[in-house]
Amino acid sequence: MEKKTPLIIDFDPGLDDAVCFFMIAGSNMYDILGVCPVSGNKGLEITEKNALKLCELIGRSDIPVLRGAKKGILKGKRTSGNVHGQSGFGRNVDLPEPVKQVEKKYAWDFIYDSAIKYPGELEILAVGPLTNLGIAFIKYPDLNQYIKRIVIMGGGFSHGNWTAAAEFNIWADPDAARIVFEAGVPMAMMGLDICEKAIIDKEDLARLDNGGKISKVAADLMRDRVLGPPDMPEEMKKNRIGGILCDAVAACYMIDPTVIETEYVEVRVETKGTLTEGKTYALRPFTETEIYKPNTYAGVNIDRKAFADVMIRMIAKLD
Ligand code: BDR
Ligand code: CA
Repeated sequence: MEKKTPLIIDFDPGLDDAVCFFMIAGSNMYDILGVCPVSGNKGLEITEKNALKLCELIGRSDIPVLRGAKKGILKGKRTSGNVHGQSGFGRNVDLPEPVKQVEKKYAWDFIYDSAIKYPGELEILAVGPLTNLGIAFIKYPDLNQYIKRIVIMGGGFSHGNWTAAAEFNIWADPDAARIVFEAGVPMAMMGLDICEKAIIDKEDLARLDNGGKISKVAADLMRDRVLGPPDMPEEMKKNRIGGILCDAVAACYMIDPTVIETEYVEVRVETKGTLTEGKTYALRPFTETEIYKPNTYAGVNIDRKAFADVMIRMIAKLD
């Protein structure tokens, strides 16, 4: 059997975080060493519990759930309120209370120990605020030498979704994001530019609804995104094309990168701007007044249909 790539998933589950996790676990391409919840979509007490629930749901109680950060490095606790519902899994999914417990070990120590154990091999998929990773790079200055690459969902070239300038994950802890982008580890950034093109439509939802247990949970997680929230007027619902699941795009990139076109750019993070705090600032080679030091493969285009297909097929493998 081919050796699987060692991987740590850092996330803030979250509807789309859950779908992202299902896809990676279903792909069977990665050896998931552990998952590191972080405060983001919800406070840590909820994202932690959700991480435990997800591992149990897919029969992977063996995956350690590490102790993550409760708040951003300098900016404190910033959550997305009720964007992902009260529980973080929307109003259609209610998973049983977990039996499994969070490990005593902190996420940043686990990341470092895993990097030392798998030097040059370890990959990290981070689809929440980058606080756990930021702390890891501060605490262990040599960590950058051992990580093969970091793939994130966050940022983008042009606009934001939390503020006009900033995407939520980067806005929630811009200082951590800056540390991560400046760490010197090869990066890939699946930002809003492509995540907003990766629409899941009603046909995709129907395929999931026709699947087994985990496909059905995934369908319930994304139902309101695809069909529209309950308070949306019927006429609007009828005309709605579908909804997006940002973190699933990052999972797709790790499973089948041919679905996503990237551009090699240098990403910097705005940590202080009065209007642009948390904005990712991407330098392209033709930026004439600045020295261009590319560090990130940033998503610029996505084959929507192929993406949806990867998502549905990977989740089905868990059914
Ligand atoms: C990102 O923010 C969160 O709400 C999602 O889980 C995703 O990681 C999108 O901006
Ligand atoms: Ca997320």
